[in-house]
Amino acid sequence: MKHLISTKQFTSQKSLEKIFSLADSYKKVKSADILKNKILACIFYEPSTRTRLSFETAALKLGASVISTENAAQFSSAAKGETLEDTIKIISGYADAIVLRHYQQGASKKASTVSSVPIINAGDGAGEHPTQALLDLYTIKNELSRLDNLNIALAGDLLNGRTIHSLISLLSLYRADTLYLVSPESLKIPKKYTDYLNNKKIKYIETCDLQESLKNIDVLYMTRVQKERFKNIDQYEKVKDLYSIDAKNIKHMKKNSIVMHPLPRINEISPDIDNDKRAAYFRQAENGLYIRMAILDLILNNKKERKI
Ligand code: NCD
Repeated sequence: MKHLISTKQFTSQKSLEKIFSLADSYKKVKSADILKNKILACIFYEPSTRTRLSFETAALKLGASVISTENAAQFSSAAKGETLEDTIKIISGYADAIVLRHYQQGASKKASTVSSVPIINAGDGAGEHPTQALLDLYTIKNELSRLDNLNIALAGDLLNGRTIHSLISLLSLYRADTLYLVSPESLKIPKKYTDYLNNKKIKYIETCDLQESLKNIDVLYMTRVQKERFKNIDQYEKVKDLYSIDAKNIKHMKKNSIVMHPLPRINEISPDIDNDKRAAYFRQAENGLYIRMAILDLILNNKKERKI
C-alpha cells in the first residue's frame, strides 16, 4: 500500500484482516519502537479532534516524530495563495508520509499525484474518510465477533458524510443481510454508492424512517448533519435534528446490538445512553488509535519481519 486515498483500494477481506490483526497486536502492546527516524506530517485544512490527534499519538507510540499544522488554511502558505500541489511537493521533501485533511473532494488524490511520499486521506470534503471506515469496521468486528449476516442502519447525512461513503465500500466486501440507508430526501446517498451496492448485490433499503428499522438492526451507525457543507443555513436547520437515539427509543433495539458514531455528535445521540453497554462510540474512537498504528506500520515500516 503506498497511498491510502479510498476504501475502494481494498478488494478482499484478506487485505482488511491483515490491518485488523496488526491493530489487535497494538491494542495489546500499546507501543513499539518500529518507526524511529521516520517523520509523519499531519496537514489539516479542516477541524479535527480524533483523526489528527490519534494519528499523531499513533506515530509517537511507534517511535516516529510528527510535524503538523492543525489549521493549514490559515497558517500555511495556502493563506498566501499557494496551491495544494506546491505545498505537498515541499512537505513530501521533509516527511516520510503525509496525513491530509482538506475541504475539497479529490484533494488527497490530487496530492498523491505530486507527492514523493505516501498520502493518507484523513477526509476530503464530502468525499471519503478511509481510515475512519477501517476503524468502524474493526469496531463492528470486535463488538459483534462477525462481519457477515448483519443488519446495519446508516443514518443521518448520507449525502455529505464522508465516513459513510468510505464505509459502504468496505461493508460490500461482506455478506450483509440488509443495509438500511436512513436519511431525509435531501440528504440521500449519492447514486454512485447505490450503483456500487447494486453491482455487489448487497440488499439495501432507502428510508426516511429510523424508528422502523430499530428492532431489526445489529448496528446503528449515526452521523452528524454536515453543517459546513450547506450553502443555505435554513436548509441545515430543517434537517439537523431529524434523527436521534435516546434512552426511550434504544429500548426498541436488540440486547446485543450496538450504536456507533464517528463523532463529534451534536444531538444524534443523547448522553443518557452513554452507559448503556450498546453505546460503542467511545470504544470506536479508541480503536482509531490502534487502526492508525497498524496503518502507519504498514505504510512506513518496510521491514519484512515485523517486531510485534
Ligand atoms: C468525521 C469527519 O471528519 O468526517 N469525524 C471524524 O473524523 N471522526 C465525522 C464528522 O465530522 O461528522
